[in-house]
Parts: sequence; structure tokens; C-alpha cells
Amino acid sequence: MHHFHYRGEDLYCEEVPISALADEVGTPFYLYSHATLTRHFRVFDEAFQEVPHLICFAVKANANLAILRLFATMGGGADVVSGGELFRALHAGIPPERIVFAGVGKHREEMREALKADILMFNAESSQELRLLNQVAGEMGTVARVAVRVNPDVDPKTHPYISTGLKKTKFGIDISIALEEYQLAQTLSHIAIVGVHTHIGSQITDVSPFVDSLTRIAELIHELRTRGIDIRYLDVGGGLGIPYGDETPPHPTEMARAVIPILKDLGCTILFEPGRVIVGNAGILVTRVLYTKRTPTKDFVIVDAGMNDLIRPSLYGSYHAIQPVRRQEGRQRLTVDVVGPICESGDFLAKDREIAMVEPGELLAVMSAGAYGFTMASNYNARPRAAEVLVKGDRHFLIRARERYEDLIRGEVVPDDL
Ligand code: LLP
Repeated sequence: MHHFHYRGEDLYCEEVPISALADEVGTPFYLYSHATLTRHFRVFDEAFQEVPHLICFAVKANANLAILRLFATMGGGADVVSGGELFRALHAGIPPERIVFAGVGKHREEMREALKADILMFNAESSQELRLLNQVAGEMGTVARVAVRVNPDVDPKTHPYISTGLKKTKFGIDISIALEEYQLAQTLSHIAIVGVHTHIGSQITDVSPFVDSLTRIAELIHELRTRGIDIRYLDVGGGLGIPYGDETPPHPTEMARAVIPILKDLGCTILFEPGRVIVGNAGILVTRVLYTKRTPTKDFVIVDAGMNDLIRPSLYGSYHAIQPVRRQEGRQRLTVDVVGPICESGDFLAKDREIAMVEPGELLAVMSAGAYGFTMASNYNARPRAAEVLVKGDRHFLIRARERYEDLIRGEVVPDDL
């Protein structure tokens, strides 16, 4: 459920008409609903109240400081995958003891930063990483708390680019050799094993991959314990899908019902790393129609947001619903491509989509854009990145200013001797 709805013919975010925001901040811009963000966080949190747990929001889904701060005030932590995300999380006021650090390619400096901040734990993804982490922690005279990311070889049945728990992916350590990896970690004096981490993929629309993977992980935890390796944290990753169109992913309570029987007697604090399910439907991308164009074979609606603003349709062929910000009675329905200004044929927000025809100057809302929207935006074609706005009731806040041309050249140096 989200708080983007029509009042009469006008699309509102909570109590605010979206067209008024567009007049104020210009287009394109990302727009988030505070009531939706808090509702989604709370629903997820309450679904798992039966087990001791911590929600470490996946910063990669939406890294805006205001949004991270909001979750921090609700008791949330962060799942980070880079020094930059760690910096953001700390800057937003997320307590370090609620931060976990995953990723296959952590470098030495990032390890130092996270050790210095004294984060809850590292999710280690290879033996070389474990050895380097041990060395860095040793140099700093400290001990790194670690979970090994275990790859349970479960097919999450999602897009191949966002499947991460199969044998063939780069992520984690294969469950068949996980025991050896834990035994290696045990010999490293600056590593304290505290957990098991897993994450099988994203936009998962069925509970069974979670059940399968957690059943395997629970067995591993028992096995580790029989070998004297205590596990305090089970980090189950993220991955719960959302409806973009006609998908019917399980509600968090349904997922909880399916996995709590596996989790509740493990004696672990359960960490969750949801991203999309919290923020995906809490945000939209608002764009203005520049032109419409008819060719002998196709109709195009050319808008001022492109693949540099929202890359999901181009990269994964993802579906995002597109709605008019002002509905007009009696408009002809046409099948069109909604495309951006970028010089790439792959620059589209929708392909062969039936919409009510729009005129230049009118606004469109690209729905379900709160996750992996702004965070995957780029400056391709030297386009300044969009503004971000948060609505709370009848108030709104500019939570990220639109980039200016000066931002595009920040840090660049033209040598005198050219
Ligand atoms: N934890 C780990 C270790 C992850 O790699 C991810 C996502 C998450 C948590 C959060 O997953 P979520 O709850 O959001 O599904 N750019 C793609 C999604 C990439 C997901 C990468 N990892 C997209 O736009 O669909």
C-alpha cells in the first residue's frame, strides 16, 4: 500500500498535489512519501516481532540521508557495501552497532574505516578477504566481528542479473565448503566469528526460495555449533519482491509465517537487509513530456527523464507503471514507447505501453521508483542528476537539490600543459 493517489483528476502524494511540487522544483524529480516509508518499515518490523531481530536497511536501494535517518529513528540499521555507503550511513546517524558490511570487493581502506567505526559485523565473501581483514584488524590492534556469506545454491527465480544465491554467482562461499571457511576463520586471531550471512537475490516473489535457503543455513548453524563455533547472528539478507505490475509477492507477514518456524529456535538474533520492499513503492519519478512523435511504425512520448535517471527498464527490461499526474477525460489510448533524451536506443522508461495520450508540458509519474532509482542514476550525457523530495502529510522537503552544471565538472582538472 502506498500514498500516491488521485483526488479528483490530480495525483497527490499524501496531502500534496504533485503538479505543485513540479512547478516548485522542476522536473525530473524523485518523490518519496513519508507515510509509505514508515508504514513499510513498521509492517516489516512487526511481521518478525516473534524473533529477536534488527532491520539493516539495504542502503544500495536508496541512500538519501533523510531516508536513512528516518529508518534510524525507527530503530533500523544499515547494510552497506562500500566505504561510501558506510560514510552515508554514519553521517545519517545510524549507530555503528547496527551496521553490517557486505560485498565481494572490500578493500583495505574500507576495512579500516569500518573497524574504526566499530560496526556490528563484516559479511565476508572469500578466504582471501578473511585473511586481509585479519591482517588489517591486527595492524589496528583490534578484532573484526565476522559472518561468512554462505551461498546456499538456491534459485530465487528472479532476473538473472539480480540472482545471487546460485553456485555460479560471484557472491558468498559455496555451502559445501562453508565449514572449511569457518574453520579457517577460527584460526585467525583478529577475527571473531559471530554469524552466518546469506542473500539469494532480489525481487523474489515466492516464499519457497527463502524457506529452502534458510533450511540449509539452519542445518549449517547446527553443524557449526557441534564443532564449537558459536553463531549469534543469522543475517538473512534482503530480496522480498514488490508489485510493480501484476506480480503478487508475499506480504512480509506471509514471509514471516513461512520462515519463523525455521528461525525461532536457532538462538540467534536475526538480521534482515530489506531494501526494495521498504522503499520501492514509496517513491516515484516525476517527469515532464517534452514532445510526442509519430513515425510510420511507432508512436513515441519523449520525456525529460532518461535512463540516466532510472536505468531499470533499460538494464533489466523492468516494468514501471506510468500514470498521468493529471487525468484527462476522453483521451485517446495509444500504444507508445516512453523514451528519454539520452542518445541511446536503449533509453526508454516503457516500451509498447498503452497509455492515455499526453501533450507536451504534461506530467507523468513513473511508479515504484523508490528503490534502485536515484542510487543507480548517472551523469551520462552530462545530465545533472535529479532532485529528491520527501512529502510528509501536507509538507514537503527538498532532500536533495538538483545537481547544477558546476557539479558535473567538480574535481576535474585541465592541465596547463595540453
Ligand atoms: N543484501 C544484500 C547483500 C544485497 O546484495 C541486496 C541487494 C540486498 C540486501 C537488498 O535486496 P532487496 O531487498 O532490495 O531485494 N538494482 C537491482 C537490484 C540489485 C539488488 C542487489 N542486492 C534492481 O534494480 O532490481
